[in-house]
Amino acid sequence: MTQEAIDLSYESQQYGHDNEEHNDDTEMTDASKHNTSTEATSASIAHENGADNHVNGNDDDDDDDGQIGPSPVDALIGNGISKKDIEKLQEAGLCTVESIAYTPKKILTTIKGISDQKADKLISEASKIVPLGFTTASEFHQRRSELITLTTGSKQLDTLLGGGIETGAITEIFGEFRTGKSQLCHTLAVTAQLPVEMGGGEGKCLFIDTESTFRPIRIVPIARRFGLDEHEAMENIAYARAYNADHQLQLLNQAAQMMAQSRFSLLIVDSIMALYRTDYSGRGELSARQMHVAKFLRTLQRLADEFGIAVVITNQVVAQVDGGAMFNPDPKKPIGGNIVAHSSTTRLYFKKGKGANRICKIYDSPCLAESECIFAIGQGGIMDPSDETENAEEE
Ligand SMILES: Nc1ncnc2c1ncn2[C@@H]1O[C@H](COP(=O)(O)OP(=O)(O)OP(=O)(O)O)[C@@H](O)[C@H]1O
Ligand SMILES: [Mg+2]
Repeated sequence: MTQEAIDLSYESQQYGHDNEEHNDDTEMTDASKHNTSTEATSASIAHENGADNHVNGNDDDDDDDGQIGPSPVDALIGNGISKKDIEKLQEAGLCTVESIAYTPKKILTTIKGISDQKADKLISEASKIVPLGFTTASEFHQRRSELITLTTGSKQLDTLLGGGIETGAITEIFGEFRTGKSQLCHTLAVTAQLPVEMGGGEGKCLFIDTESTFRPIRIVPIARRFGLDEHEAMENIAYARAYNADHQLQLLNQAAQMMAQSRFSLLIVDSIMALYRTDYSGRGELSARQMHVAKFLRTLQRLADEFGIAVVITNQVVAQVDGGAMFNPDPKKPIGGNIVAHSSTTRLYFKKGKGANRICKIYDSPCLAESECIFAIGQGGIMDPSDETENAEEE
């Protein structure tokens, strides 16, 4: 209750003040510029990666038609770039040539030991390897049609999402407690490992848990449902509990190093704002909080671009107290303000339904209409609704 009360005043302050809004926006302009230029390449990475490195068996169909996923950053050694420089970059979580090409120079120069000239050199060498220019819309369309989506476990939800959770992008799921956000995360941690033909991403899953609600025991029935060995499924989920906002950001460096070594198809952050709510309190810290959140989200987007993975973040809601409440019969909004809103490619709103049923509403998407569907939570994870789920007793 008290936390909610704090958040209420917190969020309304954030929306009410031009200065801070402005702050948000400048941060975002940078990030979105950066995203646009890299989008064309991310789709192909997702596809080529998927075809290349299998987690669950059949390595027989090696298709050698071009690049195979991101290039390790040590490909840049030579031409004035030393092994030592590369080590500094790796420590900062920049493990691929793509990560150098996608990172703004001003961030490269914040890495200890990377000078202005060195950053220029790195960027120019990286851009020789990573395509950063224009492509035609039809070529881009072709790449997007090959984009892998991860099944949610519910056909209706997949259909609503145009196939499932998109790779190479950030999907935000927000809603009240017990609406199934964490249950979907558990389900995706398993389906991410399935072969592409079964709606999977043929990769491992990285799970960053900020609320200590990950339950490995839930993986067992979900893995069985999809015909995977439960031990193998658990081995393929790299789990980390984040203890504070700095730690949460720092874990992404480790994540990048792990992704450069083996194929991951999904990164989950459940939930993104929980630690910020406790680590930053009061209005004096709002601007610092939003800058930190922006940095976290920018890094998530870079990982999505760089490794072609799907990024799924969950978020809590607070009651809306500004003008919108008067016209909106369900006045809830996700926390995190404009930064989270603008950084997520697709935003989904989960609501309670009858029994074990839940409603998913598309809240914001670049290409999906604002529609909704019903899904259910069961022992085997997220599934389609049935008479049984509709009449299930809520405990
Ligand atoms: N093994 C299971 N079988 C069926 N339903 C389950 C199972 N485990 C949990 N649930 C249901 O999942 C719901 C909880 O969902 P979940 O933990 O995903 O909520 P959430 O949206 O993450 O909430 P919060 O905001 O508190 O984190 C509860 O209604 C619970 O009954
Ligand atoms: Mg949860």
